[in-house]
Amino acid sequence: MRIFLDSASISEVREAASWGILSGVTTNPTLAAKEGRDFRSAVKEICSIVDGPVSAEAISLTRTEIVAEGIELAAIADNIAVKIPVGPEGLAATRVLSDRGIHVNMTLVFSVNQAILAAAAGAAFVSPFIGRLDDIGTDGLGRLADIVDALGNYDISTQVIAASIRHPMHVIEAALIGTDISTVPFEVLKKMVQHPLTDKGVAGFLSDWEALQAKMEEVRADTADV
Ligand code: E4P
Repeated sequence: MRIFLDSASISEVREAASWGILSGVTTNPTLAAKEGRDFRSAVKEICSIVDGPVSAEAISLTRTEIVAEGIELAAIADNIAVKIPVGPEGLAATRVLSDRGIHVNMTLVFSVNQAILAAAAGAAFVSPFIGRLDDIGTDGLGRLADIVDALGNYDISTQVIAASIRHPMHVIEAALIGTDISTVPFEVLKKMVQHPLTDKGVAGFLSDWEALQAKMEEVRADTADV
């Protein structure tokens, strides 16, 4: 499973990219608002840090406007994927943009039917929102599994991105389901790399190594005395 970072923060993108694990980035208007800087310049900078797809969301509501905005967003960099909310207008715009070779990430997907339609419209990515389904007492991971199964029955290129991830178990389950990609907030990414036994193991190895150096020093001193 490939890992995307779900963030519009340049410092988080730089840090995650430096780990060598990052295959792409997703942003949305809420994440952009948190950064408080010009969205397009931030996205351009992110595109220069990450080789893989960087999703930038169109906020227009009609197909004509979404297409125009999508073309503008795609002009920011070669690795832009235009994020478009699912719906009749979004699907129509997705068909036009994907026919022009522009990658679309169909977002705010909550049902198998929406995912089927996104794939039919030529979306390169479809993003089921697991956490928001959990929030309303629905089985987000179950829905994700159904979407991965349904699209997997056909020879289509649409990839599934597990989105709205809230904790490391979401990532583990998404991988076990066979999801193509998980887009992970930085706080969750930090939790994924942590394990108390790793910390304990490193501390133990270091102290044993230092004890060995002290012993070798003693042996050298004894040999020098002879
Ligand atoms: C990513 O594509 C989504 O916009 C994001 O994962 C939504 O996450 P949230 O439900 O925590 O806002």
